[in-house]
Amino acid sequence: VPAVRQLLPEPAEVIDPVAAHAAAARPRPADRPWVALNMVASVDGATAVDGVSGGLGGPADKAVFRALRGVADWILVAAGTVRSERYGPPKTPPELQAARVDRGQSALPRIAIVSRSLDLDPDLPIFADGAPRPLLLTTADAPDAQVERLRPLADVEVVGAESVEPGAALAVLAGHGAATVLCEGGPSLNGQLIAAGVVDELNVTFSPLLVGGPSERVARGPQAAGLDLELAHLWQDGAVLLARYVRAGA
Ligand SMILES: NC(=O)c1ccc[n+]([C@@H]2O[C@H](COP(=O)([O-])OP(=O)(O)OC[C@H]3O[C@@H](n4cnc5c(N)ncnc54)[C@H](OP(=O)(O)O)[C@@H]3O)[C@@H](O)[C@H]2O)c1
Repeated sequence: VPAVRQLLPEPAEVIDPVAAHAAAARPRPADRPWVALNMVASVDGATAVDGVSGGLGGPADKAVFRALRGVADWILVAAGTVRSERYGPPKTPPELQAARVDRGQSALPRIAIVSRSLDLDPDLPIFADGAPRPLLLTTADAPDAQVERLRPLADVEVVGAESVEPGAALAVLAGHGAATVLCEGGPSLNGQLIAAGVVDELNVTFSPLLVGGPSERVARGPQAAGLDLELAHLWQDGAVLLARYVRAGA
């Protein structure tokens, strides 16, 4: 575990990201699960280098990534990210699994993938034997052949006609017991969640890099009304800054 220091709201020399994220308040709104986003970005706002986020992250970002997965009931991710990052199942260590069970959660978070095309490689690690079955949230116009190809490997739920609406996706996850949903991107899904007004928390790791290039920002999509955020904490690992924001008034 890297030596993460807290700068705000009050200085603390050593922070355990797992314990701190487990202790953070995430009051479930009345009509849907709590929704947290987690992204890593360069200081100039890039979220990918050569098409993947790996060049931006480091040990502290990975620690926060694991800590947030530790508190989430469900992980929500869009198909573009699953393809480019070659997603695998959550690697929740035994002690974190035990802590989850003590809190009344399942030992492992489950992963829901949003896709219209269902163009997902069956050889992706996320579909491997023995891994928890992912849930594919798709649309009525998804190609039948893709549905049949992936059904042995994943649960499939049709959530919309042409598009998986954020509210409908969250309702499905709530029906599967989700009180806390962690969205791991990518920018197109983040943008839709922001536009729908359903983001309660944003975790951003700012990597000390300037990368330029064509990368997406943390979110893209329809212009949103704007979501006011409060800074819940700011951590530091060397030149890496790790911020947690929550929706104002949440
Ligand atoms: N820095 C970070 O922390 C971070 C995190 C995540 C991702 N990334 C990067 O972001 C990039 C990917 O982001 P992206 O914005 O291009 O793609 P994305 O948001 O990950 O995925 C887009 C795809 O998701 C599906 N999708 C999205 N909204 C949908 C809806 N409403 N209904 C049905 N399907 C929907 C579609 O899949 P189909 O095409 O299958 O229909 C769409 O093509 C990658 O380079 C990745 O490395 C960075």
